[in-house]
Amino acid sequence: MNVPQVVKIKDIIEETPTVKTLIFDWEVTDEVPGQFMMLWNFHDEKPMSLSLIDPVKGEIGFTIRKVGKFTQALHDMEVGNQIGLRGPYGRGFEISGSHILAVGGGVGMAPLAAFAEEASRKDVAVDLISAAATEKELLFMNRLNKTKINIWACTDDGTCGFCGFGTELAQKVLENVSYDMIVTCGPEIMMKKIADLADYHKIPAQFSLERYMKCGVGICGQCCVDNVGWRICKEGPVFWDDEVKLITEFGKYHRDAAGRKELF
Ligand code: FES
Repeated sequence: MNVPQVVKIKDIIEETPTVKTLIFDWEVTDEVPGQFMMLWNFHDEKPMSLSLIDPVKGEIGFTIRKVGKFTQALHDMEVGNQIGLRGPYGRGFEISGSHILAVGGGVGMAPLAAFAEEASRKDVAVDLISAAATEKELLFMNRLNKTKINIWACTDDGTCGFCGFGTELAQKVLENVSYDMIVTCGPEIMMKKIADLADYHKIPAQFSLERYMKCGVGICGQCCVDNVGWRICKEGPVFWDDEVKLITEFGKYHRDAAGRKELF
C-alpha cells in the first residue's frame, strides 16, 4: 500500500514524559518491522519507523520522541485529528533462526517492538534488551510484558533492571547464551559496539540505520552513505553485518539537511 492517504488518529499512548505513540486504523498487508512511513502534518513531512503492526486489530503505530518543531506538532495532536501517511518504504528486518537477541536503545525500541512481536507470532524466541537513561524513559514495558518475549530492562542510572548500557548487558548475555541472530536499533555508537560483539561471536546481525531524509523514495540522494552510496531510504534502513562493514561512516558521522558531516 504505497498510495498516500489522509487518516485519522485512532488512539494516542503517552509512553513516557517525552514519547507518544500515535495509532491508526490500517489494513495490514505486507508491512515489515523496520520499514518506515512518511508522516505529513500538512506543513512538513518526516520519516517515522513503524512501532506497531497489528494484523489482527488492523492497526499501525508510530512512536515519536519530542525533539523539535515537527515532533512537537505531532505531540500536540489529538485523537480524531488528521494526518497524511505514505509508505511503507525501505527494507525491514528479516526473521530467521529460532532464538534471536534484540537490543534497543531509547526510541530505537520502536521498530524492535514491532519486530519482536512479529517474531513471537511466528514462534521465534526473542530475548529483548530494552535500554534507556532511566526507568521513566523505558518504552513499551507494559505492552511487551503481555507477550512471550523475554525482556531485560537496562537503565543508565540503575532505576530499573541492569545498571549500565545495553551494550554491557549484551556482552554479558552473549558470554552465556548462543543466538541465531542479533537485531538492533538505537544510537549508532551503540549499534557499532553491537556490530563488534556480533563479529566476535560470529552471529549474523541486522542494524536499523537513521539518516536525514527528504523524499523517502530514493530520488533526492540526501540519505546516501559513504562510501558505498546506498540510500538509507531504499537499500536500508535495515542492513546486515557484512553490509554495515562497507559503510565507512557507520558509527562515526551522519550528515545534516545541507549535507554537512556531523560526528556522533
Ligand atoms: S531521502 Fe531521498 S534518496 Fe533517501
